Amino acid sequence: MNNNFYQLAPDLTICRIVTGMWQVAGGHGYIDHELAIAEMMKYHDAGFTSWDLADIYGPAEDFIGQLRRRLSALKGKEELDRIQALTKWVPQPGIITRSIVNENIDRSLRRMSVNSLDLLQFHWWNYNNPYYMDALKYLSDLRDQGIIKHIGLTNFDTERMRIIVDSGLQVISNQVQYSIIDRRPEEKMIPFCIEHNISLLTYGSLCGGLMSERYVGREPTTAELTTLSLRKYKQMIDAWGGWNLFQELLSTLKRIAQKHNVSIPNVATRYILAKSAVAGVIIGARLGIVNHINNNVQAFNLLLDKSDCDVIDAVCTKSNDLFEKIGDCGDEYR
Ligand SMILES: NC(=O)c1ccc[n+]([C@@H]2O[C@H](COP(=O)([O-])OP(=O)(O)OC[C@H]3O[C@@H](n4cnc5c(N)ncnc54)[C@H](OP(=O)(O)O)[C@@H]3O)[C@@H](O)[C@H]2O)c1
Repeated sequence: MNNNFYQLAPDLTICRIVTGMWQVAGGHGYIDHELAIAEMMKYHDAGFTSWDLADIYGPAEDFIGQLRRRLSALKGKEELDRIQALTKWVPQPGIITRSIVNENIDRSLRRMSVNSLDLLQFHWWNYNNPYYMDALKYLSDLRDQGIIKHIGLTNFDTERMRIIVDSGLQVISNQVQYSIIDRRPEEKMIPFCIEHNISLLTYGSLCGGLMSERYVGREPTTAELTTLSLRKYKQMIDAWGGWNLFQELLSTLKRIAQKHNVSIPNVATRYILAKSAVAGVIIGARLGIVNHINNNVQAFNLLLDKSDCDVIDAVCTKSNDLFEKIGDCGDEYR
């Protein structure tokens, strides 16, 4: 997978398709731990060596620890250097003290069996509570001690990113929802990120799997929306312009996919990977239930041409403006 890597920082290079672990946290079918770890080995062997996780994603941090121990036992310690585990800290809003930060980061280190975190992505639920700045200050101190290699954010809007950057705190990334249908980052976030050399890691880029061949010509019934992500992104599609317009988009994507001999998810992934400031697209995996490794690897061989992007954009001009409707990145959580 040459050229499929992105240098987020001088000492942190990631695979541009990051495997997302929210799906192991529940609401996506039963996850068998043993099967999940075996599948993580397959992702790793296929070159998908970067993982997106969080302290609140059920056993995800423990899975990274187990993957590391298994890789070390089977292939030797040097194999561990190929993994990038990008976790998050998602505290409940409240007073944040240095010891709260230290305890939580310590726990993640222990669970993941690492001496330092590659990237700690920080989430904050409520901007009216100003302690996020304290949290970032204490996290920065841990970074200066080498316990965290880099600090990123998730679901922060541009206004708060500006406050953070203006106060001299250094962050290298923000993780936001960004897809062919949800282009809110283009309004303010991407220009800001370019100006300040901050990268985006994107989620929702496949709409939880709704942006795939499976749903061409077929609207899922409520009963068929069996996972949390299908429900989440069906709502996003409804806000964006509804199922009929989404069908028009899916058939357009299907034509482009057939032209390049790839899949709709490949087109959706590559479309976002080509956008400014985007370091990587996070694709969620229901580990041990189903994997799309062989299919998703094909996104790396795809190059969309201008006419492909023009027809996709033409469909999207008929949609609602999600920035107007929902707000900036992350506002859906607040
Ligand atoms: N920071 C945040 O607030 C936040 C929020 C949401 C997600 N995330 C991160 O982003 C990750 C991605 O999750 P997401 O919600 O954005 O979901 P997503 O990546 O848009 O969708 C993942 C689903 O797409 C389907 N899929 C993947 N590759 C496919 C292919 N080649 N062909 C057909 N279907 C395919 C799979 O469905 P099946 O399993 O049904 O086949 C998979 O479960 C999460 O795991 C998490 O790490 C972060």
